[in-house]
Amino acid sequence: MNIPLWEHVIYRKENRYICRMREKIEDLEKKIARAKLGGGKERIEAQHAKGKLTARERLHFLLDENSFEEIGMLVTHRSTNFGLDAKKIPGDGVVTGYGTINGRLVYVFSQDFTVMGGSLAEAHARKICKVMDLALKNGAPFIGLNDSGGARIQEGVVSLGGYADIFYRNTLASGVIPQISAIMGPCAGGAVYSPALTDFILMVEQTSYMFVTGPNVVKTVTHEEVTSEELGGANAHASKSGVTHFACENEIKTIENIKALLSYMPQNCEEEAPFLSFEAGNEQRPALNTIIPANPNQPYDIKEVIGTTVDTDSFLEVHKDYAENIVVGFARLGGRSIGVVANQPAFLAGVLDSASSEKGARFVRFCDAFNIPILVFEDVPGFLPGTDQEWSGIIKNGAKLLYAFCEATVPRVTVITRKAYGGAYDVMNSKHIGADMNYAWPTAEIAVMGARGAAEIIFRKEIREADNPEEKWKEKEAEYAEMFAHPYNATAHGYIDEVIEPSKTREKLIRAFKMLENKVDNLPRKKHGNIPL
Ligand code: HXC
Repeated sequence: MNIPLWEHVIYRKENRYICRMREKIEDLEKKIARAKLGGGKERIEAQHAKGKLTARERLHFLLDENSFEEIGMLVTHRSTNFGLDAKKIPGDGVVTGYGTINGRLVYVFSQDFTVMGGSLAEAHARKICKVMDLALKNGAPFIGLNDSGGARIQEGVVSLGGYADIFYRNTLASGVIPQISAIMGPCAGGAVYSPALTDFILMVEQTSYMFVTGPNVVKTVTHEEVTSEELGGANAHASKSGVTHFACENEIKTIENIKALLSYMPQNCEEEAPFLSFEAGNEQRPALNTIIPANPNQPYDIKEVIGTTVDTDSFLEVHKDYAENIVVGFARLGGRSIGVVANQPAFLAGVLDSASSEKGARFVRFCDAFNIPILVFEDVPGFLPGTDQEWSGIIKNGAKLLYAFCEATVPRVTVITRKAYGGAYDVMNSKHIGADMNYAWPTAEIAVMGARGAAEIIFRKEIREADNPEEKWKEKEAEYAEMFAHPYNATAHGYIDEVIEPSKTREKLIRAFKMLENKVDNLPRKKHGNIPL
């Protein structure tokens, strides 16, 4: 073949170009492979031996298949302190980027404990901030998978600065996009404050812990002997402090819980939560007619009421093991995402105390911030008396719940199943503080207090002077009960819109929330309110 000379030149040039490109691609592939190995095989094995997944494995399970786009894989730190220049690992101990969960965009970071214990310093923090900024600008949830030894000790103040940069963004993003933190390893010192600023915390049982100061410092300062698990493990924070909203059996369950949580939320504060398709059928629930015991002092499980009312298996309880006298969680009602707040008569008779008030208030505020309508089931004998409660600030804590309901502008519906006594009647989403629809079951008792206590106070003299004081007391108790231990007084005042047969609750609620779906309610113009913290 006779190829002209000029064509030889082009062919040789392209060949050289192709060869050079192949080398470059191979070099890039090596860099990517190196980055994906994080701290190396041995450390990955050590991570697995502790029953933990790696940062990338966690993202693999969290995000839809092939949806993850990594940002900043080849970022390295710049510090030379204490030999750090010889310890540059691409990615700098955190994998960041975006992907989808059930087709919806999310931004993520996942700390890599195999790289210097997942410790956070300048470059690591910058990577996290970059995705936080993107999440905020693009209005999509931000999820952090935490597994870190805290501030990178060698880098000094830039590590602290990195944390503060994150805290600042957590706060700016609060109420704009949902923020979820999973704790999948250590999270100690000031590092705990980023998760604490986010909307929901999930912890893995046995392999994660959170504390401001660890067992050694505790021992030195207070002489208490305590293990990491006892001090700041998942169960301690789920039941004692309420810091975590979920204690999950393992990492996979934690990840599944994150996905479930997100399914009830909108992408940001301007949107509504996804509506699941729903075919109306027979919405009567006869089982609700038999839940309330004949004896008004006998407990029953409000979760049975919730479960029977909302769409089948749709209730996702939040803060399950903390302040169990109030139940909060997400559910669907006729396909619509709602937040449920309910007194729990099966625990401390459903009384309101400091912990349950705070728990309820935080949940109400989340729902309101993200346009999730609120359903309240009320059966509350009042606020818990006692020095413990007064000194722990039941006044300011109860006020938090009151404040949260008062300022919530989302659709709000209440069902009083039984007791609605005293100030607790006002607080639990009463008509007076802005609830849109208030229903009562015929078993509702809406009064300043229970009939026995009321009779004792207002008829004390008569009872004391009677021939048979106990008989008199009973007679007066019955008199008071007849006057108030029912819903019809409140209904006559219009404080209750309708007294309904329990079996009809579900259909009434579906209609009410549909009727309220275009509700617009604005608070007076202000910089921000001053909730009694
Ligand atoms: C730098 C760290 C590190 C850190 C761990 N490593 N934490 N490097 N800065 N903060 C490194 C270790 O040197 C080790 O490197 C590797 O990560 C794995 O750590 P191990 O100790 O071998 O792991 P393990 O036995 O599982 O113990 C994990 C640990 C422990 C409990 C987290 O590493 C630890 O106590 N780290 C220090 C925690 C801490 O005090 N952090 C600062 C908190 S103050 P090699 O190369 O040896 O394998 C803070 C302030 C934030 O965070 C303030 C924000 C306002």
